[in-house]
Amino acid sequence: MRWIEVDTYQEMSLKAADCFEQQLLQKPDSVLGLATGGSPIGLYEELVKRYKQRVFSFSQVKTFNLDEYVGVSPADVTSYHSYMEEHLFSQVDIEKNDIHIPNGLAPNLQEECVRYEQLILQSGGIDLQLLGIGVNGHIGFNEPGTSFQSKTHVVTLADDTRAANSIYFPSKQEVPEYAISMGIETIMQAKEIILLAFGEQKMRAIERLKQEGISEDFPASRLKEHPNVTIIYGR
Ligand code: F6R
Repeated sequence: MRWIEVDTYQEMSLKAADCFEQQLLQKPDSVLGLATGGSPIGLYEELVKRYKQRVFSFSQVKTFNLDEYVGVSPADVTSYHSYMEEHLFSQVDIEKNDIHIPNGLAPNLQEECVRYEQLILQSGGIDLQLLGIGVNGHIGFNEPGTSFQSKTHVVTLADDTRAANSIYFPSKQEVPEYAISMGIETIMQAKEIILLAFGEQKMRAIERLKQEGISEDFPASRLKEHPNVTIIYGR
């Protein structure tokens, strides 16, 4: 695990953008694993800026998002589809067919999970996976207790997670209870992983990641067994 401590959110975003730039210059048809939430907004802004400066293009890129809420329409402003459209996809030259996000409205959610997992494999696997981290150590929506062997699956969101994400909804009651998420094993299959964490409330999770052993009670700890992980963090 490589640890990069930064002083500001902006610095974290620029460092992460440098990793994406390097990836896209080396392999213009990269398969990227993407995350939503507060942590990557600055990174996406920077990627859009560099795309507009023609540093790289997304025309051959394929993307797979980590997760999506169950029961939320892609058109809804609270969906991760909308988030990605707003922060990245609408502003770069990615082909619509190359964007993949789990379908939280699929009539058969189990089949949707299998389809999503197969699609990742058929694309050749994820070259660079972006992650945030929950205060409870979740990665994707893999909450404490999730099996390290998990593939894309339907998850029940932890109370902490619903509380943290309620800022994007009119009230906590309206935060969905379920989501589809890549599993921990899915994430571990990515060739390279970057995890972003910024702010005081994330530092306990970062300290635990540094100090504690590997346990399903703290999902991010599994990353210690991955050969190519960079943690970019600061308070
Ligand atoms: C988002 C995701 C989550 C977030 C995590 C941190 O797609 O899978 O694991 O990365 O909850 O969220 P923020 O960045 O909002 O603190």
